[in-house]
Amino acid sequence: MTQTTNYPVPESFKDSWMSEEKYQELYRYSLENPEAFWGSKAERYLDWYRPWDSVYEGDFKKCEVSWFKGGKLNASFNCIDRHLENRADQVAIIWEGDTPDLQRKITYQEIHDEVCKLANGLKAQGVNKGDRVCIYMPMVPEAVYAMLACARIGAVHSVVFGGFSPHSLRDRILDCGCRAVITADEGVRGGKHIPLKQNTDEALKECPDVTTVVVYERTGAEIEWREGRDISYKALTTSQSSICEPEVMESEDPLFILYTSGSTGKPKGVLHSTAGYLLYTTVTFHYVFDYHEGDIYWCGADVGWITGHSYIVYGPLSNGATMVMHEGVPFWPDAARIWEIVDRHQVNILYTAPTAIRALMAKGDEYVKRTSRASLKILGTVGEPINPEAWQWYYRSVGEERCPIIDSWWQTETGGMMITPLPGATALKPGFATLPFLGIRPAILDHDGNEIVGPGQGSLVITGSWPSQIRTVYGNHQRIVDTYFSQHPGYYFTGDGARRDENGYYQITGRMDDVINVAGHRLGTAEIESALVLHEAIAEAAVVGVPHRVKGESVYAFITPMDGVEITDDLKQELSNLVASEIGSFARPEILHPCPALPKTRSGKIMRRILRKLAQGERDNLGDLSTLADPTVIKHLLDQA
Ligand code: WTA
Repeated sequence: MTQTTNYPVPESFKDSWMSEEKYQELYRYSLENPEAFWGSKAERYLDWYRPWDSVYEGDFKKCEVSWFKGGKLNASFNCIDRHLENRADQVAIIWEGDTPDLQRKITYQEIHDEVCKLANGLKAQGVNKGDRVCIYMPMVPEAVYAMLACARIGAVHSVVFGGFSPHSLRDRILDCGCRAVITADEGVRGGKHIPLKQNTDEALKECPDVTTVVVYERTGAEIEWREGRDISYKALTTSQSSICEPEVMESEDPLFILYTSGSTGKPKGVLHSTAGYLLYTTVTFHYVFDYHEGDIYWCGADVGWITGHSYIVYGPLSNGATMVMHEGVPFWPDAARIWEIVDRHQVNILYTAPTAIRALMAKGDEYVKRTSRASLKILGTVGEPINPEAWQWYYRSVGEERCPIIDSWWQTETGGMMITPLPGATALKPGFATLPFLGIRPAILDHDGNEIVGPGQGSLVITGSWPSQIRTVYGNHQRIVDTYFSQHPGYYFTGDGARRDENGYYQITGRMDDVINVAGHRLGTAEIESALVLHEAIAEAAVVGVPHRVKGESVYAFITPMDGVEITDDLKQELSNLVASEIGSFARPEILHPCPALPKTRSGKIMRRILRKLAQGERDNLGDLSTLADPTVIKHLLDQA
């Protein structure tokens, strides 16, 4: 295998949890005996109030699955209480604020006490098991407490990333019927203040069912106060007891909902259940980061995304890990911040996104070289394809050829890492996410939906269930069946394309549907289009993703104005602002391309294939145009490109 994978497992990983031989053997075993495999992991890695009756039951084709049926457990107990006997005083969270002078260290005992107080406070506000609670918080430990407090009382959290606009927040609150919101006065990122409470007030104008808003005071900014509805985090928690018995939950009880963009329609509420999700994130964290007692781990994601849920909160805490949590951004106060944090806290394992790596790479090596980084052992990446150049920079300049690059592929819907190297078991190949995790059998399908055997390229699908698979789209089970299980009956359809080499290594080639990935933020082109056409001057819009040097992809929007309207720079600015206010600033189009009409098929379907090519500057090779309803449209587009 080392012939094509020029980066063999380093000697220093000889004693890691998994060797190449052990992986091969366990992988085979996990596919042949999934129930025995996952059953033994569940016994070993989680604490249960009651064991399960069956490991797996269900109908994968209909996405009706249950893992560990009959079992009872609590996720917050597993993330906190079970560690108290041996590691009550161990630091769980090392928090770095937006500026380096802000530091907090929080032990497992402290997390326990804070989570219990908040859980009791929420109960006092009438939040019960099964209720949905929206969390719209900056990257502060209280965001983690909020998630775990919900899990403790059996409430279902729905975290909304702090970069989302009031409209997006409103839609998410309404869709799953939240009755409480936990937020902060303001968030702080890169010196900028984000008016979270003001955004919440705006969103709640149309959410009459929200009766409680808990406000954590991060900056002390002046905010409006709605008596009877708003309560400060401090007032809610100070007088509460630091003991709160965890609610006994069934394995399949929902743990959380997280909204994510799909190729059509509004973002969907991906629902994960308790036992399977917790088990899978716990086991993957342990093996993929080769986590050993005492290691300092840092995931640079935001808790508002799935990476934050699985690998800031549930995976690390369930393993009793010590982790860094950073409030700010990689460039603040300057581009050495990440490496300074690594040195200050002696970080051993770093998990970040290609967009951050590329942006830091663009700043040159000077900032990196200022720091030692000698503590680093493993460098992880997630969220989008990592180009070999960025991979090499991460490997050579950051890790000084000592640290394996763990390019892990997964999705909100998969709950945890699916295709990923393991530090002690997998020789690396830049740009390749390499091999499936234990228990996961990916396949690549050709155009006709047949499995490709051996090397090849096509649609990436997953064969058979795994514990942390999506359970449903909140309130719309049919949507999950239509989106993920109907394209290729019998398979989970990922929406990604992939290539497999002669060693069975997978390279993810990117989305094959209308989902785009801008700086690691997942967006549906349809959401951006809907925002643009809200403007009275715009008749129609079509959005495609185009490659971007740093962000991976950027938003390119073709816009058709209403008759007689001229698209001026001012109008473009208005449209960009509209997208920011409807979705969030990160969704702003990079380019707005006016055109008198969009290319459509005779049945009226927008031909995105053509638009994608035009957006990338291709003029000559637009492919088959025979289904185009009106060929003059292309001529106009070419004239204006
Ligand atoms: C992309 C993030 C290539 C992919 C965890 C997927 C990746 C989407 C990788 C899910 C990777 C994630 N290599 N592409 N290592 N990891 N992706 O739901 O297109 O925010 O479908 O989950 O990100 O994005 P999501």
